[in-house]
Amino acid sequence: MAMRLLISLSLSERVLKDYKDSRGAFKRTAAKRFEDFDDSAAVAITKRFSANKPLRIADTGVSDGRTALDFFDRLKDAYPAISYAASDYGSRVTCVRKGSLQVCADNSGAVAEIVWKKFVLKQFGFIGFLFYPINFFLYLLLKPIAKRLLQNGTDRREILLFFGAALQTAQNDRRFTLGEHNILEPFDAQFHIVRAMNPLNTSYFTTEQFGAILRHIHNALLPNGLLITGSNQDAGSVVNGGIYQKTAQGFAEVWRSGEGSPITDLIGAFAQDS
Ligand SMILES: C[S@@+](CC[C@H](N)C(=O)[O-])C[C@H]1O[C@@H](n2cnc3c(N)ncnc32)[C@H](O)[C@@H]1O
Repeated sequence: MAMRLLISLSLSERVLKDYKDSRGAFKRTAAKRFEDFDDSAAVAITKRFSANKPLRIADTGVSDGRTALDFFDRLKDAYPAISYAASDYGSRVTCVRKGSLQVCADNSGAVAEIVWKKFVLKQFGFIGFLFYPINFFLYLLLKPIAKRLLQNGTDRREILLFFGAALQTAQNDRRFTLGEHNILEPFDAQFHIVRAMNPLNTSYFTTEQFGAILRHIHNALLPNGLLITGSNQDAGSVVNGGIYQKTAQGFAEVWRSGEGSPITDLIGAFAQDS
């Protein structure tokens, strides 16, 4: 049974809006989310990396790719030999349809969304039950049927959760790629810069997991490479983050924004051999 790869923008946008992956991480994003922070990051890059040499960047946890595209667009003219690998974990969902029922599953195979006639149904908490009791009970009723459809349905589509302009750029400009990478796993290459905007939040990972993530980032960075990381809320809000330079043993902070990264203490204390 061959899977068709379809890019359905309206569906991907809807799935993304409230989408939480199986571990509870949000994919919420916004264009121009950290313009001032990106300005400062670009200045730090131009001070350290020469324009006529290759510049390899890994941008992780990019959700649908719009903040990665913002940063690529900012750098691509100054660095003609840039290679920009944007990635996220769980960036595709599988949707199966039968008649008026459609079910979409996240990358772990769990039900992410059920659409039946005009009802769009997701996992409802207590608040959902209070405000949408009909949807709540419909979801409970349809979930076992949806699970069977996911297993046995034949009208299947794979939906990429990257947005149109990022997909187009990846198609037209070989310097920009979109892929899947779990930051709990090692990177498969080395980079001058690893960027992680909004995935390094304390609600997503344990201290031990942050240890592994920082080790993977440290290993992936070339000598004196930069970790650019920060977290914020809506577009334009203060970014708590910074720029950290790889040292032989760990990371040295070279610039701070707002209160610094939510895991600034872990980054500062990280030692490669520990
Ligand atoms: C709030 S979004 C941030 C998206 C974008 N970077 C931005 O700032 O707008 C957090 C992202 O981290 C990603 N993420 C969570 N766990 C991850 C993991 N283990 N590996 C890679 N990405 C992860 C989520 O899939 C999500 O897209």
